[in-house]
Amino acid sequence: MIADVVVGLQHGDEGKGKVTHQLASSGEYTHVLRFNGGCNAGHTIYHLGKKFVTHHIPAGVFYGVKSIIGPGCVINIEKLFKEIKGLESEGINVRDYLYVAGNAHVITAEHMAEDAQDTKIGTTKSGNGPAYRDKYSRVGLRAENCPELAPFIVDLYSELHKDHSVVVLCEGAQGFGLDIDWGDYPYVTSSHCTVGGAVSCGIPHNAIRNVWGVAKAYETYVGAKKFESSDPIFSKIRDVGSEYGATTGRPRQVNWLNIEDLKKSVDINGVTQIVFNKCDILDSVKCWKVITTNGLINFKNATELESYLKGYLHGADIIFSRSPNKI
Ligand code: IMP
Ligand code: MG
Repeated sequence: MIADVVVGLQHGDEGKGKVTHQLASSGEYTHVLRFNGGCNAGHTIYHLGKKFVTHHIPAGVFYGVKSIIGPGCVINIEKLFKEIKGLESEGINVRDYLYVAGNAHVITAEHMAEDAQDTKIGTTKSGNGPAYRDKYSRVGLRAENCPELAPFIVDLYSELHKDHSVVVLCEGAQGFGLDIDWGDYPYVTSSHCTVGGAVSCGIPHNAIRNVWGVAKAYETYVGAKKFESSDPIFSKIRDVGSEYGATTGRPRQVNWLNIEDLKKSVDINGVTQIVFNKCDILDSVKCWKVITTNGLINFKNATELESYLKGYLHGADIIFSRSPNKI
C-alpha cells in the first residue's frame, strides 16, 4: 500500500477540500479515506465550475474513486443521505463509490440535542463531542448496527489490504489547532486531526509517502475563545477572504499566521509538502505579517514573506496558492 495524507495545520478551513480534490483528480489513487470528524467539517470544492461543500463524503466521489468514511469518523445518517442527494442532483455519482467502515460511529438525535446546549466551546452543534464521548465510554452506536447504512458498509481491512495495488489518499478534517490532544484544549474538536488519525484508521505507518499539510497565509478560528486581535485589518481580510463558516455560516475570527505553532504542527505531522492557501487575500489587503513569541514581523511584500516561510520551514516542499480551485 502507498498512502498520502492531507491534514490541516491550523484551525480547520485551511482549504483541505481543494487540495484533496485536486490530488484525487490525478487518477493515481484507488481510494480516498476520510479519517476523522463528522458533519462539523465543511470542505469547499470547486468541481467543473460548480461550488460544492462536502461534510461527510470524501472528495474521491468527484472522480469515481472509492471513497470511504473511516472508523475515526462520526456520522449523522440523515445529513449523510441529504449530502448524497445533493451531490447526485448535481450529477455526481455517489452511491457507486461511497463506503462506510462498520466501526465508524453514529451521531444520534440525543447527541445533537446535547450539543445544541453548548455555550462553552462554540461547537458546530452537530453532536460531535457527545458522539465521540459515547464511543470512548463504550456505549456508542456503530455504523454496522444501522440498517440504513447497510448498503455502504465495507470490510476496511480486506478493502485496503487485500492486494498491493492500493494507493490511498487520506482526507483529514479540522486541523492541528483543534486536535483533541494537540489543540488549545478545551477549545478543540473531539477527534484526531493529525496524521495519527489516519494511522488508526488502518493505514500502516510505513505505507505513508507524502503528508500534505494545508495552511492559510493568515489564520482563522471559529469558536468561543477570543482569537482575533484589535487591528481593523482583520475585518477587511474576513470580507475579502469570505471567511464565514462553510457549515455554520459564522464569521471566522482572523489573525496573523503564528509561525511557531505552524512549525510545531509541521513537525508533529511529519509534513513533506505544505500548501499555503489564500496568498492572494494578503496581496489584496497589501499587508504581510507573522506572529512570533517576540512580537510581529512585518514584511514589505509577498516575496519577502514567502522567502521567510521557505527558510523557517525548510525540509518541506512549499506551494503558495492564489486560486480557489487549484494549488
Ligand atoms: P465541534 O467539532 O463541533 O465539537 O466544535 C469544536 C470546535 O471546533 C469549535 O470551535 C468549532 O467551531 C471547531 N470546528 C469543528 N469543525 C470545524 C471545521 O471543519 N472547520 C473549522 N472549525 C471547526
Ligand atoms: Mg471548513
